[in-house]
Amino acid sequence: MTEFTGLTDRFGRHVNYLRISVTDRCDLRCVYCMAEDVQFVPRPQLLTLEEITRIGRAFVNLGVRKIRITGGEPLTRRNILQVFQELGQLESLQDLTITTNGTQLHRYAKDLQKAGVTRVNISIDSLHEDRFRAITRNGELHRTLTGIDSALEAGFKRVKLNAVILKNRNHDEVQSLVAFAVDRGIDISFIEEMPLGIIDEHDRAAVYYSSDQILADLTRHYEMIPTTESTGGPSRYYRIPGMDTRVGFISPHSHNFCDQCNRVRLTAEGRLLLCLGQEHSIDLKRVVRAHPGDESVLQQAIIDSMDLKPKGHDFDLQTQPVIFRHMNTTGG
Ligand code: 5AD
Ligand code: SF4
Repeated sequence: MTEFTGLTDRFGRHVNYLRISVTDRCDLRCVYCMAEDVQFVPRPQLLTLEEITRIGRAFVNLGVRKIRITGGEPLTRRNILQVFQELGQLESLQDLTITTNGTQLHRYAKDLQKAGVTRVNISIDSLHEDRFRAITRNGELHRTLTGIDSALEAGFKRVKLNAVILKNRNHDEVQSLVAFAVDRGIDISFIEEMPLGIIDEHDRAAVYYSSDQILADLTRHYEMIPTTESTGGPSRYYRIPGMDTRVGFISPHSHNFCDQCNRVRLTAEGRLLLCLGQEHSIDLKRVVRAHPGDESVLQQAIIDSMDLKPKGHDFDLQTQPVIFRHMNTTGG
């Protein structure tokens, strides 16, 4: 028998990164993420906190080294700290991270750091109160700013900002967002909007603003040096000489990154998605509920799922989305 060496798919890609959406709910309603009248999953259909931890542990036992907790807004899930505390104790897990909109970080940052969270990504698309409110449909900028301060005080290994850039909404802020990150010595990634779920607020093709355009805008103000650094995600990074800040670009449209894909995603309902841009999935909630306490059945289901991982997404801004999931159900 050959020795088992972790999770590998049909294309030889090693899966060492799991993203877990712990809730599809959020206290904001970002226009690119959700419809305004979004219907959330009824709570009984969600994985319990114990089930989330159990599945996370099974993945770590299968060689996963990085887990990112996402949502929706993960910090709106009641008692969520428990999940961080339990996963944080797994010795083979090298990186426990969170993506958050920051609104609750003033309450949670210290405890997350103590639980073993290494890195925090905070979403912020504008530094203008009115625009922030418009993009998030009623969010308050000062709460996210306070959250960023709290994260900086808590002493995480790394804090990063994420900004989704939309033409004529915030594309003129890329330089000030970078300046904001540089002032604080933190990283920032710019994300191209992905066609996940039907939204009626704007035409996704009309607001498309490519990473290359952002880079060109930034190059007028900063010397941007490409690097081969990676944080285990799809960001391509640039450095500004003499600064701690790295500027990343997540460019699903202009620079496809599927051939490097090392991740899978667990939805709040317990569906394991093998690709962000495809529907291939298995129902891990059914597996954990049918076999309580049986780690080997769970592990085998995860191993078998690797055969379903598709080669890549086929996002196309010209056609209606084929992916009906919104980002909040998928795990941003
Ligand atoms: N396309 C790109 N990014 C999105 N996010 C949410 N929805 C989308 C989308 N349709 C972003 C959030 C956050 C990150 C987790 O995902 O703004 O920064
Ligand atoms: Fe909430 Fe993040 Fe979606 Fe905005 S992008 S609505 S903060 S889950």
